[in-house]
Amino acid sequence: MAKITVVGSISTDFVVETDRRPLMGETVEGKAFSTSFGGKGANQAVASARLGAATTMLGAVGVDSFGEELLGNLEDNGISVNNVERVTHSSGSAFITLVDGDNSIIYVPGANGAYAPEMLESVIEQGTIIQSSDLVMVQNETPVETVNFLISKCSELNVPLLLNPAPAREIDRELLEKVTFLTPNETECDVLFPGEDRSTLLERYPNKLIVTLGSKGAVFHDGERIQTVPSLTVDKVVDTTGAGDTFNGAFAFAHASGLTMKDSIRFGNLAAGLSIQKPGAQTGAPTLEQMKEHEDFEKEWNFK
Ligand code: RIB
Repeated sequence: MAKITVVGSISTDFVVETDRRPLMGETVEGKAFSTSFGGKGANQAVASARLGAATTMLGAVGVDSFGEELLGNLEDNGISVNNVERVTHSSGSAFITLVDGDNSIIYVPGANGAYAPEMLESVIEQGTIIQSSDLVMVQNETPVETVNFLISKCSELNVPLLLNPAPAREIDRELLEKVTFLTPNETECDVLFPGEDRSTLLERYPNKLIVTLGSKGAVFHDGERIQTVPSLTVDKVVDTTGAGDTFNGAFAFAHASGLTMKDSIRFGNLAAGLSIQKPGAQTGAPTLEQMKEHEDFEKEWNFK
């Protein structure tokens, strides 16, 4: 069974659905309000765990009631939370506006912002969680010092690491060399590599850089040429929130389970395509059984 460790954010999403985003100084009426479980880290952990990976979450929540619920949700999804820190900050939150299924997000780190390198260091010193992982995943809703520390440690320990650079922030080129997989969307790619041509970038990082293109799929370089892996065609998009996270969690599960790079991306695209047909960042993340029911699931995909 694939062992995946996710270092990242665990948040509550406060979601407002409306027909139009308000202009500065304007008030518009919303159609619906809901809260759901989110945080890019937690979303990716849920996506990989639902598919069958033995998943461990590392990060922080507050000592508030949100923190209890956030941990309970991860546990309900079979994720180990024994090493998630409880800190005095409020638990992380995200304020999401949904218009026609597409989101815009204000993220408030709270406890996620308190997950310090020392906390991660003590996990590494005390145990084997990181050391025994087939793949470690991290995103940019965790403090930069902690992400940078993790990248260096995984490289030292020879543990493969996937960096999903969302939300976008610049990163030191030397650190980038230590990352096994880098999965920006188009906007994030432009922030990481300002002014650089995408084809040249893909060629520079073969089998490492995967640029996700939303409904247009994802691109990577296989060592010989650029490959475009199409996304699933979906009749009705309900909510794109967390689609990238589902892609990352599913890609990680598939690759750690022995699928090729291209098949792992196909698998990730299928999972993301299924996820956007349900509301919320985590609700639509599919199980392996749900994946198998879809005609795009390849019979020869075997998971070690
Ligand atoms: O990627 C989607 C996630 O990002 C949401 O669940 C929300 O928590 C935001 O931060």
